[in-house]
Amino acid sequence: MHIVVTKDHTTMSQKAARLIADLIQQQPTAALVVATGNTPLQAYQELASLVQQEHINVSSLQPFQLDEYVGVAADDPRSLYGWSKRAFLDPLQLPAASITRLRGDLDDTAAACRDYDRAVHAAGGFELAILGLGPNGHLGFNEPPTRSIDPTRQVTLTPASLASNAAYWGEQTVPEQALTCGMNHLLAARHIFLLVSGAHKREILWQTVKGPVTEEIPSSYLQQIANITIIADHDAWPNED
Ligand code: F6R
Repeated sequence: MHIVVTKDHTTMSQKAARLIADLIQQQPTAALVVATGNTPLQAYQELASLVQQEHINVSSLQPFQLDEYVGVAADDPRSLYGWSKRAFLDPLQLPAASITRLRGDLDDTAAACRDYDRAVHAAGGFELAILGLGPNGHLGFNEPPTRSIDPTRQVTLTPASLASNAAYWGEQTVPEQALTCGMNHLLAARHIFLLVSGAHKREILWQTVKGPVTEEIPSSYLQQIANITIIADHDAWPNED
């Protein structure tokens, strides 16, 4: 486990963007799963700037959605597909169809999960997982309790996740059902970058890196992974004094 602590959110974003850009340069056809949420937004913008300045070819990347609400149409601005498009695909000028979706808008969500798993396998697994840290240690929507072998599946969001996502839903109720990329795929990624920002993540980051490895804190499985880099800003990094 590599840990990089930066002085603030902007330097965290720049560092993450640099690492992602370097990896893309080495692996231009990489399959990568991309988190939504607030934490990586600036990193994706910084990445787009690096791509432009350094003429990095991203046209053969294979992006994958990390999670999606059930019953939310793709063109609903609250869909995580829409978020991935605005935050990641558009700045990199990648076509909307370039991302492998998790189809929470289909009636048969079990089949949607199977299709997604097939696509991950066809890509040879993920080269890179770009993740944020949930308030309860969720990665994607792998809500506690999650086993390390859990596959892509439909989950019921916990009250902690519903509360943290409420800000994105305005007056409307956050859907309680979601699809998530399996924990099995995330932990098998050949590189994992976990971005963490803000004092409100300090306690869960501490449990992630120093607490017991437990189903109750899914992010704690990362302690067992060699090729993980945590990029945290100073506010999020637990003061060890
Ligand atoms: C987003 C996702 C979530 C978020 C996590 C942190 O696709 O899967 O796991 O990464 O909830 O969200 P933010 O960054 O908004 O604090």
